[in-house]
Amino acid sequence: MLAQKTIKPLFIGGEWVETSELHPIYNKYTGELFAQVSKAGEAEKNAALEAAERAFRQSDFAPAQRFQVLMKMYHLLLDHLEEFAEAIAAEGGKPIVDARTEVNRSALIFLLSAEEAIKITGEMIPAQVAPNLNIGKRLIYTIKKPIGLVCAITPFNFPLNLVVHKVAPALAAGNPVIIKPASDTAYSALKLCELLEKAGLPKGFASCLVGSGSTLGDQLLTDQRIHKYTFTGSPEVGKHIHRTIGMRRVTLELGSNSATIVHQDADVETAAAKLARMSFAHAGQICISVQRIYVHKEIEQTFMEAFLRYTASLKVGDPLDPSTIVGPMISEKEAIRIEGWVNEAVEQGAKIWTGGRRENNVYYPTVLTGATKGMKVVDEEVFAPVVSIATYETIEEAVRLVNDSKYGLQAGVFTQSVSLAHTIPYLLEVGGVMINDTSSFRADQMPYGGVKESGMGKEGPAFAIEEMLETVTVAVNLEEQL
Ligand code: SIN
Repeated sequence: MLAQKTIKPLFIGGEWVETSELHPIYNKYTGELFAQVSKAGEAEKNAALEAAERAFRQSDFAPAQRFQVLMKMYHLLLDHLEEFAEAIAAEGGKPIVDARTEVNRSALIFLLSAEEAIKITGEMIPAQVAPNLNIGKRLIYTIKKPIGLVCAITPFNFPLNLVVHKVAPALAAGNPVIIKPASDTAYSALKLCELLEKAGLPKGFASCLVGSGSTLGDQLLTDQRIHKYTFTGSPEVGKHIHRTIGMRRVTLELGSNSATIVHQDADVETAAAKLARMSFAHAGQICISVQRIYVHKEIEQTFMEAFLRYTASLKVGDPLDPSTIVGPMISEKEAIRIEGWVNEAVEQGAKIWTGGRRENNVYYPTVLTGATKGMKVVDEEVFAPVVSIATYETIEEAVRLVNDSKYGLQAGVFTQSVSLAHTIPYLLEVGGVMINDTSSFRADQMPYGGVKESGMGKEGPAFAIEEMLETVTVAVNLEEQL
């Protein structure tokens, strides 16, 4: 186990900097102090940005060197897997089985980013395309340049993976990156910087600053030295970022009230097992967590019986216990919030089949029926272990129900119909459709990002790198002497 009460300084342009103000990080299950991290003020923010600008101007961080650093990170993360997994379980409350997966996924993102770093290229553009427009003899092509300073603002629910999904592509593209992790889970991000240093990242190419959104966050948003923001978090903060940064580039991975359809031809046992696991994984605190399940009327009873059976088998408790599947929520405040939403839904006519119970910040897996539009548990992102099940009679009705949302991140569809599997992605208003899986499926190499209030832009190394590069067009007039 990691030593408790470790004090982690900030990482600023390759130096470790202690500040007088500390932010305590607690074990989210036991409530004990886990670590303390230094807090950044304006001076630390300026030091990080100056170091990043200097590094960007002065060092030639070539693709071959980026590949080497990123590949080292892949190996280093695997070497330190257990330490990171324990940190994620303690500071994030994530069950250790899922925390280990998070570290493995993070290592993979470095590997994928390393491969992309040495493939960055522009393209040839055909010149003579219109017979009636003579543009003369020209060679037209594009080059890709690093965009400049990237600011990564990351949430508590994946303290490592969602940091790496921003840091590794930024570095692969040749950009310095300033990380602002969620303060309550900032330990993993700072620990990641130790590895970046070990991997030989040139000084200035990464900094990690801890502080609140309304002070440090806003200072970063208004600082014109930053060229690109990449954020995962709530739609409310996403909209604030979008409004504040003006014309600068942004990728926003926001929330959702993700839905999964279980069609009448589905393998009901498989669907129920996967859906129970993914409705309650990390206590529902995942942007693509299953929140709404639409089941065909004909299979309602069989599905409900299997779903409740699988839900009952999920062990709730200490994240460090390897048999735990559902851990605590990030805070008691959040658990009280969801308790209020569920109670309100019940007053409005919903029925609780299991759960609806809270112990401190642990909210028990909760299954609702009779929850309808107009209730918070349906319309808003619950970000808690609460799922609503409703039925439909035609696939058109199911599509309407899924789309009747201000969000659109991912959706799942269980069906054995090849035709439905290939036509429904055109009908669902989401950024990703998972066939014979839940809305929660994510492989890190896939493009990931939503529509509507779920955000804009895509993550996944190859796609994120593209959004962190500037495309410059070169048109050479071959008729002129060079
Ligand atoms: C998220 O909560 O958006 C991240 C989901 C994942 O990486 O699995």
